[in-house]
Amino acid sequence: MRRGSIFALLGIGTVAGAIATAIAVLLPWLPEDASRERGRIDFVFWFVIGICIMIFAIVVAVLLYSILNFRAKPDDDSDGPPIHGHTGLEIVWTLIPTILVTAIGIVSAIVLGRNDAQGKDVFRVNVTAQQFAWSFSYPEAKNLTTGVLRLPVGRSVELSFKALDVIHSFWVPQFGQKEDTVPGLHTQLHITPTKTGTFPVICTELCGLGHALMRARVVVMKKAAFAAWVGAAPKQTGGGKAVFVNNGCSSCHTFKPAGASATIGPDLDKLPAEARKAGQPLEQFVRKSIVHPNAYIEPHYPPNLMPQTFGSLPKSQLDALVRFLIGKGK
Ligand code: CUA
Repeated sequence: MRRGSIFALLGIGTVAGAIATAIAVLLPWLPEDASRERGRIDFVFWFVIGICIMIFAIVVAVLLYSILNFRAKPDDDSDGPPIHGHTGLEIVWTLIPTILVTAIGIVSAIVLGRNDAQGKDVFRVNVTAQQFAWSFSYPEAKNLTTGVLRLPVGRSVELSFKALDVIHSFWVPQFGQKEDTVPGLHTQLHITPTKTGTFPVICTELCGLGHALMRARVVVMKKAAFAAWVGAAPKQTGGGKAVFVNNGCSSCHTFKPAGASATIGPDLDKLPAEARKAGQPLEQFVRKSIVHPNAYIEPHYPPNLMPQTFGSLPKSQLDALVRFLIGKGK
């Protein structure tokens, strides 16, 4: 091979590699990194991207060099030389991909293992998924239940998932990991938040009509602020509006006093009229509709649309919720 050819190949490869590297590094492809696990996943991502850029540079160099140097002259219809087999080349193009793929496999396995491992001093949260809402309860804080996930920064968190109806999937892009919630199965996820802030919780498994609305928030707090919140929270979660929000009612219903405007289920601002239509006193109608959603079905709505799980609400919360819905409490 002529020395000029080597320089040409190296030159084209370097330029192609530099352009690809600039596009990879300078554009913000990934969401903010807010957990230790996400940092490890990003490492695998960049490891693979690095390999891809190298291969891309080699391919572009050989391709451009060949196009420029080995082009047939106009009107040259002759065949190329008959080339058959090259053991050395075949060994090289088998060996290099084998080494690369094995390296990616090993790095990924190490990251998966470390991300699945339980940390020390674990903070446990029980996560319940149902059409179409998330709720979070904290065994360390007397099973306080909220609709917004709150976590202390820097502590290893173990999320235990339960699905009440169909398969959902828990994902916080900034935390990097995803986990399915499957009825009858106990799934888990370990996360160590490294940044304070508010991030979205997204359901990433098509789970029904309200799938796109099945979103919540996670608020990562400084340890002291988190402890203060745990201390103050029981007083704030007993009201009817809190029960409404924490149980995901606003994912499906419109109800002005709660600022809810979803339209999957009936409009709760029209409850008095619906109770009259059903021929029942308002309070009795509302309570029954929460505990036994199929007892009276609004015209134009299918049965079984509403989860039949709210009957298990503690009585004080159910009472507060009913009072809130009939306009007699907050
Ligand atoms: Cu739950 Cu999609």
